Amino acid sequence: MAGTQTEPIGLTTTRAPFIEQAQASGQLYIHQPYELYSEANHDAWRRLFGRMGERWQRYANERFLEGIASLCLDADRVPRLDDVNRFLHPLTGFKAKPVSGYVPSFLFFDCLRNREFPTTITIRDGRTLDYLPEPDIFHDIAGHVPMHTDRAFADTLVRFGDCAHTAAELAAGIRDEAERVRRVTSITKAMARFFWFTIEFGLMQSRDGKGLKAYGSGLLSSYGELAHSIDAADVQRYPIRLEWVINQYFEIHHYQPLLFVVDSFDHLFELVVELERWMKAGKLDNVSPGEPAISEADLASFLAASTAR
Ligand SMILES: [Fe+2]
Repeated sequence: MAGTQTEPIGLTTTRAPFIEQAQASGQLYIHQPYELYSEANHDAWRRLFGRMGERWQRYANERFLEGIASLCLDADRVPRLDDVNRFLHPLTGFKAKPVSGYVPSFLFFDCLRNREFPTTITIRDGRTLDYLPEPDIFHDIAGHVPMHTDRAFADTLVRFGDCAHTAAELAAGIRDEAERVRRVTSITKAMARFFWFTIEFGLMQSRDGKGLKAYGSGLLSSYGELAHSIDAADVQRYPIRLEWVINQYFEIHHYQPLLFVVDSFDHLFELVVELERWMKAGKLDNVSPGEPAISEADLASFLAASTAR
């Protein structure tokens, strides 16, 4: 009995009383109560991390491989965010910041601008290693954070955060409330689509003739989709075009049938600069309807930021 009493209850995506309490009390930014991870949680990490190694070697872009090596992640235990940050912060100033759940989009982008990455601390149930629509610590730390060790990539995220502020400034200048909501919804949709097709599911052309490699975190944290994104004959892969990406709907519950390719992280940075230019010119005000839906919380976060100006 003593053994069962001392086994921590766990921080599992499907069951985490600590997270439920934080959410119930409105706490978005939290600490990582490391002692709550159960052996089942550590085992899920060990299995997730262990099987990705050979796939990363084969399909991940070089900067990711260098990044994951420089973070010195423990293959056997769920990472402590403090440890991750000790290696990450000196490289690009970025830090993983623990959160209790979904961060409304303006706040999320604003965190990026401050070189903070909102990070989920729960881990998926070990019985469902493959499929998880929402982020968990494996997606965030093993999929996203290694990219944050790269200076050009990190600067791109910061620049994206700047774009969110530009959007809020533009919204502040629109007097008619219905029109303000309409335009902010369209701009937010464009930004979400851009983020999805680059930061989450982006491919990059290698310079050394090694073909396509993944840099998007949704791919890099998925054992099945990482290989599928590069090898499957039925995936459409096109050189990225801003006008296409901002108007392209996407669905999250299956492997992506359409992916976009950038040349380099400098190229990606330039695209974000262009995105902001287009935003200022009104070219994001009427993007095509469809997914992703912009939630009330997302919209409210942008509107609150605009009225605070
Ligand atoms: Fe993600």
